[in-house]
Amino acid sequence: MQIKIDSDALMTDLANLAKIGRGADGGITRRALSAEDRDARDYVIARMRWVGLQVRHDEVGNVRARRADDWGNTNPSVMTGSHLDSVPSGGRLDGPLGVVGAVAALDALGRAKVACKRPLEVVIFVGEEGSRFPRGTIGSAAISGFRSVAEIYALIDPEGVSFASALKTYADRGQPMEARVETGSIYAFVELHVEQGGVLEAARVPIGVVTAIAGLVQRQVTFIGVANHAGATPMAIRKDALTRAAEWVLAIEQAAHKIGSGVVATVGQFEVFPGGKNIIPGRVEAICDLRAPTKELLDAVDKEVMATLAASKRDIAVDERLLQRVEPGPMHERAMTAIERTSSSAGLKSQRMLSGAIHDALHIAEIAPSSMIFVPSIGGKSHCPDEDTAPEHLVQGCEVLARTLADLANS
Ligand code: GLV
Ligand code: MN
Ligand code: MN
Repeated sequence: MQIKIDSDALMTDLANLAKIGRGADGGITRRALSAEDRDARDYVIARMRWVGLQVRHDEVGNVRARRADDWGNTNPSVMTGSHLDSVPSGGRLDGPLGVVGAVAALDALGRAKVACKRPLEVVIFVGEEGSRFPRGTIGSAAISGFRSVAEIYALIDPEGVSFASALKTYADRGQPMEARVETGSIYAFVELHVEQGGVLEAARVPIGVVTAIAGLVQRQVTFIGVANHAGATPMAIRKDALTRAAEWVLAIEQAAHKIGSGVVATVGQFEVFPGGKNIIPGRVEAICDLRAPTKELLDAVDKEVMATLAASKRDIAVDERLLQRVEPGPMHERAMTAIERTSSSAGLKSQRMLSGAIHDALHIAEIAPSSMIFVPSIGGKSHCPDEDTAPEHLVQGCEVLARTLADLANS
């Protein structure tokens, strides 16, 4: 099969998307359902139409595109896609590669006149990163039925805006499709993504085949002390919320080291109130993010983290709230072996690996055989402005995606 990815169009699309929401530090900020997210989505919709896809939308704002006659094809579909929202000051490839890469793959298959028995579908999943609403992977959770549409509409962002009201940013949606799809109506799902770690680069392997996605627990914790004068309050009587929170942050780090086995723990969001240089901190708001490859390990690290909240001798009140828990998810042989087969037919080495990051594939895997194609991240960097991948690896990832879609659509 002769598949030629239009690499100029791919690079142009990635460069154009990187201009939407770019800040002074070069990082990309596109919160779910923001004006920037809408602009990125509209750019891709135009590209989808340009390559001959007919675009629909569902109730929660996912974009779903197929060739026009594929909408009438009742065979189970072969689905691909990723997201366009980002973390604050994130990279240009996390999400967009799997979206414009999918458009490039369908374009290449069309130009090569590859006939597909099953319909191909490209999805732009809404709200994957969880950087606006309390949860991530919102769009894929709606498609799999893991979360109901009502539950999603009721999500509230820190400014008090509901998901349902923010969805109005996508004003041109017309009559939406039902978000949830029936089990069995997707034959296979494959998501192209940057690895976001250093495994492939170190191994000098261009294609990663994802075998499982690590699970996640995020908890919001508030430490409540007493704000007071930094000079006039003796050490013995102060109630400093920050020193207590700092103790907890270090205990979390230790817990992850102690458990090992791929467990990681991070406190990436941390605010001190009132935040004056001569005021003892009266309150700290923090969020911890815990990841583990198995349910048992996720339980173990979460238990340790909760124990450290109870363990302090300091007289500081603690208020804790679970933001989200997502169980680790295995990927499936049908999709994994297709990626391996097509990598090899494209003359590219591949290797199986775990994904430490969460992806929409985790939820789609609940209802359909799924896997992911990873391409190497330069220096293993992601969720930061330096995130990048060599152009030849980007194109190779798209080529393997195109071949995998065709393989799954006809197997
Ligand atoms: C998404 O990128 C996540 O793993 O947090
Ligand atoms: Mn991400
Ligand atoms: Mn991503």
